[in-house]
This record gives sequence, structure tokens and C-alpha cells, in this order.
Amino acid sequence: MKTLLEQMTLHEKIGQLMQLSPFFFLADLEKEAAGPIRELHLDEEKIYSAGSILGIGNAAEMIAVQSKYLERSRLKIPLLFMADVIHGYKTIFPVPLALAASWNPDTARRCARVSATEAATSGIHMTFSPMADLVRDPRWGRCVESFGESPLLSGRFAAAMVEGYQNGDLKRSDSVAACVKHFAGYGAAEGGRDYNTVDLSRQSLQSAYLEGYRQAVKAGCRGVMTAFNPIEGIPCTVNRYLLRDVLRTQWGFDGLTISDYDSLAETIAHGVAEDPSQAALMGLEAGLDIEMASSCYINHLEEHIRSGNLPLKLLDEAVLRVLTLKQDLGLFDNPNKGADALRESTTVQHPDHLRAAHEVAAECAVLLTNDGTLPLNPAVSVAILGPYALAVKTNGPWSWHGYHDENPSLAEVLTARGISPVFAKIAGCPEEYSDHDIDRIRKADVVLLALGEPENWSGEAHSRTDIGLPGRQAEFVPFVRSLGKKAIVLLQNGRPLVLEEILDASAILETWFLGSRASEAIADLLYGVTNPSGRLPMSFPRSVGQIPVYHDALPTGRPNQNENHPGEYVTKYLDAPNSPRFAFGHGLSYSRFEVRNLSLSASKIRKDDVLAVEVDIINHGPLAGDTVIQLYLGDPVARISRPVRQLVTFRKIHVAVNETLRVRFELDIHDLSYRLADGTLVCDPGRINLWVGDSPDRLLSSAFVLE
Ligand code: BGC
Repeated sequence: MKTLLEQMTLHEKIGQLMQLSPFFFLADLEKEAAGPIRELHLDEEKIYSAGSILGIGNAAEMIAVQSKYLERSRLKIPLLFMADVIHGYKTIFPVPLALAASWNPDTARRCARVSATEAATSGIHMTFSPMADLVRDPRWGRCVESFGESPLLSGRFAAAMVEGYQNGDLKRSDSVAACVKHFAGYGAAEGGRDYNTVDLSRQSLQSAYLEGYRQAVKAGCRGVMTAFNPIEGIPCTVNRYLLRDVLRTQWGFDGLTISDYDSLAETIAHGVAEDPSQAALMGLEAGLDIEMASSCYINHLEEHIRSGNLPLKLLDEAVLRVLTLKQDLGLFDNPNKGADALRESTTVQHPDHLRAAHEVAAECAVLLTNDGTLPLNPAVSVAILGPYALAVKTNGPWSWHGYHDENPSLAEVLTARGISPVFAKIAGCPEEYSDHDIDRIRKADVVLLALGEPENWSGEAHSRTDIGLPGRQAEFVPFVRSLGKKAIVLLQNGRPLVLEEILDASAILETWFLGSRASEAIADLLYGVTNPSGRLPMSFPRSVGQIPVYHDALPTGRPNQNENHPGEYVTKYLDAPNSPRFAFGHGLSYSRFEVRNLSLSASKIRKDDVLAVEVDIINHGPLAGDTVIQLYLGDPVARISRPVRQLVTFRKIHVAVNETLRVRFELDIHDLSYRLADGTLVCDPGRINLWVGDSPDRLLSSAFVLE
């Protein structure tokens, strides 16, 4: 690639750092000379020097753009096609927050593999996924795209997605390069308002917020996208500490960096760059390679290099990273790579992929409450009420290639299984049902309430201050109870919600947005074809006033020892307990699991020892099922305050009825270590507290000493 670089003009090099939408190549440039082309101060020559494309419709479109571009390219450097394939391409899997609720990184790897296989046939070379932003604030709309509040879960899921997309060899026609985002700390937007300021100490950044991206990089992801927010007052897109010190020096990352949409130009609005020219200077100096959507680089880098403001070396390094990725993807030999209209038509939504979407969806729902009404007997008659009673919009945000109209509704699925609902009708509140409707509802033994958020109430730029059920939905539970019926709530939503008003329901099943096969999965769960096994990846608060509430908080000087009888001057609220309504790791099953006989291989260990932790898990029935054994540690005396209890490992296992399994974890020094503010990994001798169990309210505890 170095030889190629030597042949390139300054203009050609800078072009490689510009990313445009396919529109520029598909439109008639003469006619379109107004609009975006003028806004970005581009001309045809600049457009045809672009190095990469954002988003593409299908294989035919991709091949058309690539061929048109290459015809004009002096050095025949192919375009790189990037796009947001977030939780599926045309076969849509559960939204990432739901995926994390599977507590099964193998499941995430499987989704990423299917997604890459489909997307590659349309000519996508790199996906802007995984999103590894840690989030402790459910008001933030983008928590739907995250893996939740745990650094460990985020890291494991981000790494698994990277492995699934890239598949060990980028040259394979069904591999797609992964670009982790949004580096860094985007999930800590103040007040949960998207794009808002972030103010994080280096300590929280290094010990919690960076972990997801760090693991994605460790897993070999080839790209890193910068975040919109500032860190320490400097927008991430031009943040040298993040892009050079952390990413390159501390982590040894040698892939490419890319801005978020327009985020280089937004440094002007942030008040750190005066104009696009200064933004360009700051971007390249800080270590930003590709500029997405805006045009600071293409219009201004040349003047900075020619005037000696910027060393050519910086430009060459950035361009080389782009060319290297193109080479590693095999684009110089085969510019269309996996794009093939015929293969595309037989690959997307292949029955195997839809089957995977169905199985994965069933693994991601979380049974929040159940008084024993679930699972249902197929002989029981049901009615379906609520705003999503006939919902097919189960794909969730960022599923732009997926089709809603091909998703069956729950009523359709039940009917196909011979369990036709006696009544199924959409309504925003019970008042909308007529007397005649109510007569029909009375015929049901059990009422399913399809409640929650519309599909577009979470995602980018969709934050909320009130995270209760929208509108008058809470009225449904008392309405159903007034008819003397049992109410089962099926929740769809992209964030933890405040559910205080519906706790009276007989059962609440959190179904998030489960994707193309959501309704089949929900039907399986309702009737016990699948035993629920999801666990919350994020705490559900009792009220917005409790936010942030998360499992691995630091101790305070005035701990609240007894939530039922708090002292006077302890850390507490006057009007609510400190604990969330549904804690991180919570999730019920139809089986009665019991965890017993916790044992540790030693009471004292040295730094190079391995500690074996074992526990029995027993399934008392009545169904076989999966459960998640969670292991938490707490380091009560360290050089800095450490979380009272933090998830350090977990395993999802299948247990047959009346079976007892001995589960073994091996902890080494890495599991006991944490990051200091400068990124170094340390551990402190002394007592370590340990908890193991399959639910946060049923943990066995022990302790050991690190010498
Ligand atoms: C989002 C990114 C996304 C990009 C490209 C931005 O608005 O923040 O997550 O990858 O657009 O579509």
C-alpha cells in the first residue's frame, strides 16, 4: 500500500478521508448542483475523490456506484461501503439492549454472523456496530442500542459482535468489518438528553465507560467511530487524549477512526473550532482519519499541508489506514466483494436466518413478574388489548433494511397455532372499547395487554424525561381487573421503564423490540414452549428521581444498611428506597431454580493463583430451562473506592427438570483487577467479598483474601 500511497496526489490522498452518501454518485450532478453539493462546497472532482460511502440500498446500487466511480478513478482505488447494520440487515434480531438481556454472548455472535452474511451480499464492507456505550440513564434514547449498564456485559457483547461480523477473515465474501462506536462516553449524556454534554472523570472513564470499546478493539475490530460529546471539554472527534493516547498508545489500535455524522463540523458549534478550516486541522492532529458527512477535510486539509501547518506524515498515516482496510477486505482484487444481486435475493431472510431470529428473540425476553398465571394453557381463551394489540412494528430503531409488513402479529401467530384470540383490537386506553367490545373481552379467561413505547420513542435524538407508560396505558390493568380477569402485560420498549402503576398485573413480560420473529417468540414464551431465560442488562428504576440507579455503584461514607429502617443521616431518599424496582440481573423463569453449596478452592490466594468457585444449581421443575449464574465481587478496601458489588463473570446454562449441575468459575488476577485513572490495571491485597446466584435477590455470599 505504501507504493500506492507514493503515487497519490495530495488531492487524491485527502479524498480517501472523505465519506459521502451514495446520492452523490447516483444523482445527476448537473441538476443537483444546488442542495447538499453546494452546502458542502463540493464539485465533481472532489466528489469523485471520495474514499468511502455511507449507506447503500442493495447489491445493484452498490455495483453501479462502484463501477461508475472506478471508471473515473486514476489509480483505480475502490470505494469502501459502510452502513449501519445494527441488529440485523433484512432479518431483524432483537435490539441490542434486548440482545444483552440474553446474557449469552454466543447469541450476539450468531446475530452478527447472520447480519454480516446478509449485508455482505448487498455490498456492505463495514458496519457501524457494535455500539459499546455504557449507559446508566434510561432517559437516553440510545440505551436501546447499548448493552446496558455493566462494563463486563458491554465488553463481552461488543467483542462477540465483532467476532461474528468479521469471522476471522475479512476477505471472505460473507465477512464485514466492524466499527465500534461511539468513542467515548456518549452514554453519559447529562440528564439522558441526546447529544448533551458529558462530564466524566478519567477514573470512571477508564474503569467503566471505556471497557466496552476496549474489548471490541481487543477482539480485533477494524474501525472506531468517535462520539458527538465532549470529554474533558474537548469534543471526542478532535480529542487527542482519546484518539491518540488511549486508542493508539494504550490499546495499540491500528485500524481506522471515523467521525460520527457531521461531528467534525460540529466542533464549531461546540465552541472549540472557529471554522471548518480549524476543525480540519484539529481533526487530523487529534488522530481522526475519516470525516463522515461534512467537508472540512476535503476543503481545507490541502491548505494546511501546503502551508506546513500540518505534517504530511499525519495525512499519510491516516490514508494508509484506509487503504490497508481496503486491501484487507480484498477490494483491490474484487471491488464488489460479496455484492451479488442473485446471492442477495436468496440470502436475505433465508429461512435459516428467520429461524435464528425466532430462537434469539425467545432468549431475550425478560419475565419481570409472574403470579403463576404464566405459562398459559392453550385451552385458556385470551383477548389482546392495548395500543400494540395488533403490532407488527417489532423491529425497533435502526432496522432500516427490515420490513415491518412481513412481521406477523401475535394474534396471527396464535391463530395459526389454533389459539385464536376471542378479541384483539387496538386502543390507547380502555375508554376506547365499546360496550360490545367489553362483552367480547368478558369471554376471555385471560387478557393480554400489549403496552409500551412506540417504536420511534427510543433511538437517536429520542430521549424522554418521563419514562412511564405513555398516555393512559396504565389504566388497562385496573380495567381488566375490574372485569374480574387476569392481566398479562406484554411490554415493548427500548429502555427501562417506570412500571409502578402496573405492578398489579398477573405477569409482566418485557419483550423490548424482538425483531422479525418477535410474535412467534412471544407466543412460545406465553405458552411455555420456551422457558423465559432473559435477565435485565439495566436496572429498572422506581421513578425518574432515582436515576442513575445501577448495580455497581461505589460505597458512600453513610451507607444505608437497612433499606426498611434507614437511619437519619444516611444516604437515602425520603420518599423511595435506594434500590431499583427491578435490579440488574433480574429475570424470572417457569422453573424453580435453587442455588446451593457455594465453595471456594481456597480462603487465601496469591496474585498468580486461580480461585475455583463452585456452586450447585438445581432445577426443581416443572420445566427444563436456562438460567444465568452471576458472580459478583466487592473489594471493600482498596486504594480508591471500588463498587460494593460488581458483576465479574456469568454463565448461562441449561438445566433439565430435577437435575443438579455443579457450575465452576475460575477467577484469576484479571477478575480481581480494576483500572486506575491512567488506564493501568491494578489490584489491592486484602479481603474480597463474593456473591453467586441466578438472581440478584438470591445470592449466596462468601469471601476470600488476596495476599
Ligand atoms: C449516528 C451513528 C451512525 C451514523 C451513520 C449518526 O447519526 O450517531 O450511530 O452510525 O449516524 O448513520
